Amino acid sequence: MSTDPTTTRGPGRARQESIYRDGVFGRVPAVPTDFATLEARAHQASTTEAWAYVAGGAGEGRTMRNNRAAFDRWAIVPRMAHGNTTRDLSLDLLGSHLPAPVLLAPVGAGALMADDSDLKIARGAAANGVPYVFSNQGCNPMEACAAEMGDVPRWVQLYWSTDEGLVDSMIARAEGLGAGALVVTLDTTLLGWRPMDLNLGSLPFSRGLGIAQYTSDPRFMEVVRERVASATKQSTEVTLGAIKTLLAMTRNHPGAFLDNLRSPEPRGAVETFLDIYSNPGLSWDHLATLRERTKLPVVLKGILHPDDAKRAFDSGVDAIVVSNHGGRQVDNAIASLDALVTIREAVGDQPTVLLDSGIRTGADVFTALALGANAVLLGRPYMYGLAVAGERGVAEVVANVIAELDLTMALSGTADLASITRDLLIPNPSA
Ligand code: FNR
Repeated sequence: MSTDPTTTRGPGRARQESIYRDGVFGRVPAVPTDFATLEARAHQASTTEAWAYVAGGAGEGRTMRNNRAAFDRWAIVPRMAHGNTTRDLSLDLLGSHLPAPVLLAPVGAGALMADDSDLKIARGAAANGVPYVFSNQGCNPMEACAAEMGDVPRWVQLYWSTDEGLVDSMIARAEGLGAGALVVTLDTTLLGWRPMDLNLGSLPFSRGLGIAQYTSDPRFMEVVRERVASATKQSTEVTLGAIKTLLAMTRNHPGAFLDNLRSPEPRGAVETFLDIYSNPGLSWDHLATLRERTKLPVVLKGILHPDDAKRAFDSGVDAIVVSNHGGRQVDNAIASLDALVTIREAVGDQPTVLLDSGIRTGADVFTALALGANAVLLGRPYMYGLAVAGERGVAEVVANVIAELDLTMALSGTADLASITRDLLIPNPSA
């Protein structure tokens, strides 16, 4: 039996070949191809504050460890002599055809890692044809990110503001840029207890970093101007730290630095943001209004309990993301992968269930799919790629994960995503 080598290559072999070919000329990949080295290199490339914010988690970090331990408790049992020479990694997801079951998660304050972070991430995602979920806490306006992505799907993530006019405005902007879905994140009605940031007294938003979706929003700026107009003069303690913070706010605000320096708006924007960005009273009643407010597919992110998952689908949403926010909200919360198992059992085969938190490799994607995820979102890995090598770093991290998924499929006897089933896993006897 002969096989045509050009059709058997797939993204896995193509990526390996490109790396090994470059190696002949003495060139190595822009980012390490294993997560541990990638993480170490990103750490070296980051400031203390940036690392605390991006790598840090809630409390003692137990949820982050739970996320990884859950993957380690499963083992893949590859099948042999299956005769498959090609794999199809593509899928249809909420009306888009995607090349692989991978999306880029919304990650805020990316400018901690690189200037124009979100534009670079958008280009890195588009280079692989995978969707990027723009963070509500992004560092470039969503319209500018969309302009970088050509026809590649972009989704928009929303935190439910206490200002309903702002919710409507953000939804209208998502519709205006042709978003493939509106992703409402439920798990961050407040920030979790994050010791790495708290120990430094560091919050990017209070320096005006990560509020670009707000300062580019007409409704938000209206609220800022009202606030500035009605403000009574307050005396502020003048310290070196306060001056640095004020300069950072001024630099991060849209417009000319000198104009901003004279204007009360940059500080007003930060204060307004901190007041209204998320609604601690968020309830199913708020979510029930989404169907009248938008025609976009609606995705609820941050679900961990099977009853919440059932309620979400009963309320008519199109998909959920099983997520514990990368372990940044509740310490010692259930691992996302463990939650996926109970949620898939509860909701059945049909509903679209995505997963994030703890995905580091292509083998992890395989495991998540085998346990019932339709697709996964990458978080910190691509941020580390950004820190190490900018746009190219993002593109390479995504390509590497997809390549390893393809090779895992090839070496396990699965020709398409539907063939990645639970019977290819066993509880890991070595765990
Ligand atoms: C996040 N995440 C997040 N989620 C969201 O809905 N909106 C946001 O603005 C952010 N911001 C954010 C910042 C940083 C620095 C991180 C690490 C994460 C959560 C993100 O979408 C995703 O759920 C996690 O990143 C997944 O966990 P891992 O894979 O990064 O461990």
